[in-house]
Amino acid sequence: MSDDKKHGSGSVAAGDTSQRVGAEVVRERGGDPEELREKLVDAIGAEFTTYYYTTLRCHLAGHEDYKEITEDARLEDRAHFELVFPRVFELGGRLPNDIRDFADRVSCPDAELPTPQGGDEPDVTQMDTEDILEILLEAERCAIRTWSEVCDMTRDCDPRTYDMAQRILNEEMDHEAWFIELLSKERDGEINPAGHFVRGEPGDAPYSTNNRFNDSA
Ligand SMILES: [Fe+2]
Ligand SMILES: [Fe+2]
Repeated sequence: MSDDKKHGSGSVAAGDTSQRVGAEVVRERGGDPEELREKLVDAIGAEFTTYYYTTLRCHLAGHEDYKEITEDARLEDRAHFELVFPRVFELGGRLPNDIRDFADRVSCPDAELPTPQGGDEPDVTQMDTEDILEILLEAERCAIRTWSEVCDMTRDCDPRTYDMAQRILNEEMDHEAWFIELLSKERDGEINPAGHFVRGEPGDAPYSTNNRFNDSA
């Protein structure tokens, strides 16, 4: 039928659903789809758990502008998870069934409320805004490192994953700039602009949005 067509057949037998051409073409170009998909699980686990910026945002009392910017970053992390998780399946992988396993293997520290020196628990009545902003900033920096590594792994072998990673990276660099601006002013009294105003809608995700979420949040 298609034997005489250049791309009519390849390393995966016709009708074989146990293998994916979408993964094998990555291997044929020097990539390692198994390593890559596990790296993606670690990376989107970090996106999934940093979506729980919720508690950090809620403790920025008195700073409505900080809350709004944190909310944009929070919602965009959800967009990053939603964008990439189908790629894990396409590369023959699966999401961890146990959400605790998923959280444990992420590639970034938990974004949780700061704990006072010498204490075990955050003092939620005396939350330090500077400390929260620093945690947010470092979470964004971890994301930049993570997606830069994914770009490195995919640049020459997997244009689909590379496209996703570089789109996310654009937003992570936005996020770092936002929190540098806020922390510089809050902690040091310095003006250190990000050049940012506001997203069109909360969590607009201008680079990484795939399909709009059904709840339009
Ligand atoms: Fe993110
Ligand atoms: Fe981010």
